[in-house]
Amino acid sequence: MSRVAVFGAGGFIGTACTMALRRDGHEIVTRRARRLRVDTEALARPTWSPARDQVARLAGELDGIEAVVNAAGVAVSGATGTPTLVGGNAAWPRLLADACAQARVPRLVHISTAAVQGRAHLLDESLRYAPLTPYARSKTLGEQLLRDAADRGRVAVTIYRPPSVHGPQRRMTTAFAAFCRRYPLVTCGDGAQPVPVALVGNVGAVVAAILAAGQAPFVVAHPYEGHTVRTLYETFAPGRPLHAAPAALVRSLLEAAAPTAQWLAPLGAVCRRAELLLLGQAQRPGWLTARGFELPLGRPAWTELAAVASRADTTSPAPASPAPPGTAPAQPVP
Ligand SMILES: NC(=O)c1ccc[n+]([C@@H]2O[C@H](COP(=O)([O-])OP(=O)(O)OC[C@H]3O[C@@H](n4cnc5c(N)ncnc54)[C@H](OP(=O)(O)O)[C@@H]3O)[C@@H](O)[C@H]2O)c1
Repeated sequence: MSRVAVFGAGGFIGTACTMALRRDGHEIVTRRARRLRVDTEALARPTWSPARDQVARLAGELDGIEAVVNAAGVAVSGATGTPTLVGGNAAWPRLLADACAQARVPRLVHISTAAVQGRAHLLDESLRYAPLTPYARSKTLGEQLLRDAADRGRVAVTIYRPPSVHGPQRRMTTAFAAFCRRYPLVTCGDGAQPVPVALVGNVGAVVAAILAAGQAPFVVAHPYEGHTVRTLYETFAPGRPLHAAPAALVRSLLEAAAPTAQWLAPLGAVCRRAELLLLGQAQRPGWLTARGFELPLGRPAWTELAAVASRADTTSPAPASPAPPGTAPAQPVP
């Protein structure tokens, strides 16, 4: 057992991490993240570092802590690149890493996101970045700043990258269930392409597994949960037909939207979600898989989640006839 400080413990992912770590016998200390506002340009300068007094004050809150989990951040995929977004997702984790180093906390696990690799052909645990949205760029900058902190060798940093995370009470999950109930389900080909999604309970379990390992690599990807676009749709909309869209057409539509999506962050996020459900995205088996780690929650938990999310979607009834193809909003997940 060790004394673990969790930042963002009351959030969606922080709650799951806290539960999993308590199950593993850790003593949990909850701490509130600082709210930082920083310009991207300032942060990207090699000379940037958190203010010394801020580091010292935060280090003072980490006395006697053996590991820190950072589940705090601005989790808004369609956010514009404001100082709050960059402050929360890039400057804050770096401030925390420096405070860990000063307080002699040996380990820091930071929740990043698979979105830092954008539409990479294969998601992996490398430092190859291709962020598509301001949100993903802020998380990428956070990883890079943590790498600088880790390179100094005073705190062992692990960056954990989950994909889209689903859970009960998650608005995105309810919205996806509602979408599946109301609109034509469209994908490319037969829908056998893998899609990276995660259950929040599994995310907590991964964080616990990282801490249970004596050492972990700098980047750990969430293991593939086994969903294809087809199985995800079948889970949330059993019995509904899947319509095939030509991949070439989908790609050209997404390419046409790309220039606008570059500066219109909400459109960029919607395009990315649609792209994942149309084209899917595969991932390379990573460190956890190589260690024989098994996700505690499987298909029955997904089925249960889909049922809960569908029940939550009872306030607005489905339209009598589904919207014609092309008029439906872009899919809300993953
Ligand atoms: N949800 C997903 O699908 C998903 C997928 C991949 C990665 N992630 C990442 O996981 C982390 C947690 O996401 P979540 O879905 O659990 O979000 P959440 O429910 O909104 O919780 C985030 C927590 O961060 C803290 N916070 C709020 N505003 C902040 C700010 N401006 N600066 C620093 N901290 C702030 C708050 O905790 P305190 O009040 O305790 O400080 C809040 O409870 C985020 O970094 C996100 O990028 C999420």
